[in-house]
Amino acid sequence: MPPRLYADNAATSFPKPPAVINAMQAYAEELGASAGRGAYREAVETGEILADCRQRLARLIHAENADNIIFTFNCSGALNQAIKGLLCPGDHVVATMMEHNSVLRPLHALAANGAIEATYVPADPATGLVDADAVFQAVRPNTRLIAVIHASNVTGSLQPVEAIGPVARRRKIPFLVDAAQTAGHVPIDVRTMAVDLLAMPGHKGWMGPLGTGALYIRPGMEKRLRPLTEGGTGSVSEAPVQPDFMPDRFEPGSHNAIGLAGLAAALQWIETRTIESLRSHELALSTRFLERTAAGSDTLTIYGPQNPQDRVAVFSVCIEGMEPAELATLMESEFRILTRAGIHCAPFAHETIGTTRQGGTTRLSFGAYNTLADIDRCAEALEMLAAVDLHA
Ligand SMILES: Cc1ncc(COP(=O)(O)O)c(C=O)c1O
Repeated sequence: MPPRLYADNAATSFPKPPAVINAMQAYAEELGASAGRGAYREAVETGEILADCRQRLARLIHAENADNIIFTFNCSGALNQAIKGLLCPGDHVVATMMEHNSVLRPLHALAANGAIEATYVPADPATGLVDADAVFQAVRPNTRLIAVIHASNVTGSLQPVEAIGPVARRRKIPFLVDAAQTAGHVPIDVRTMAVDLLAMPGHKGWMGPLGTGALYIRPGMEKRLRPLTEGGTGSVSEAPVQPDFMPDRFEPGSHNAIGLAGLAAALQWIETRTIESLRSHELALSTRFLERTAAGSDTLTIYGPQNPQDRVAVFSVCIEGMEPAELATLMESEFRILTRAGIHCAPFAHETIGTTRQGGTTRLSFGAYNTLADIDRCAEALEMLAAVDLHA
């Protein structure tokens, strides 16, 4: 059997840089303390690791201040904090049909008891791209949030957040970006993009371990955001109310210190590699995948933008007559290629591209450690499976 080829980086990146594992092991063996919970060296050093991680994240997304980054345990936690912390009864939200369930479900939960209303802006069925003007056409006088997925986890489509942010800012509507598939993959500048809230997982493109995530909150926005949870922070412990300063206002309870030690090392690795070079690498992978699969069989469909510049390296594919789950199973059993089949937690995205009835798609998602040889192997496997006569 060939060696395993991991093509599910949109779920979580693998492998992680060796420095990540080393940092986690060093934390576990040498520190093992909870940040802000003691004056002894180990607790102080753990606090320094968290501060370092926060600073690196702030630098990488060009945030004004490290304290405007709060840690969460995944991207869903960051999105829930942003959405439920901001919206009030009577508010209207504009989101897109390409959103992930970690945006759709909080919005539906708030809408279920009539508290809010949401409009989902359609995307182009061929590319999965949303038109910035259509976003603003959906705005109402009571619109209190525009929420846009930066890149689709189904089609890879990169949405025009740079065009949406500045207009939303002028119209004083908070702008939330779900950067689950772009943080660590494409350059992000929250200031030029005029983003108010940016949700990120630490465990995908940022290359950190599972159990890490973060939310950027633009300075001033923290006053408009209610914390979803309260608890101990190790600061102003004499007060029975949550501190109102950042980041403690949104970080009750003990941190995932071992995870954040890993994330800090991952971010250092990214800073050394640079986001620009990671994006170039990913563009080369996308270009190769699109070229190799374009020449293939008529029964193979690759969804999403055909121009690599308009996408990240997340590809939904389908072979006519083969169920997505069957294709994923064959990719693993025959070729040792790990993919993911189904709806990928984005039901409206499948409605958009017309793949709901067939049970979604099979998704191949590439990351920093994938090579052009990996892409060739995936393309060859898809070509061979597309050539199988399913009726024989
Ligand atoms: C676009 C998008 N948003 C949000 C999430 C949720 O991320 P997490 O699993 O870190 O909560 C994902 C996860 O796949 C995603 O792809």
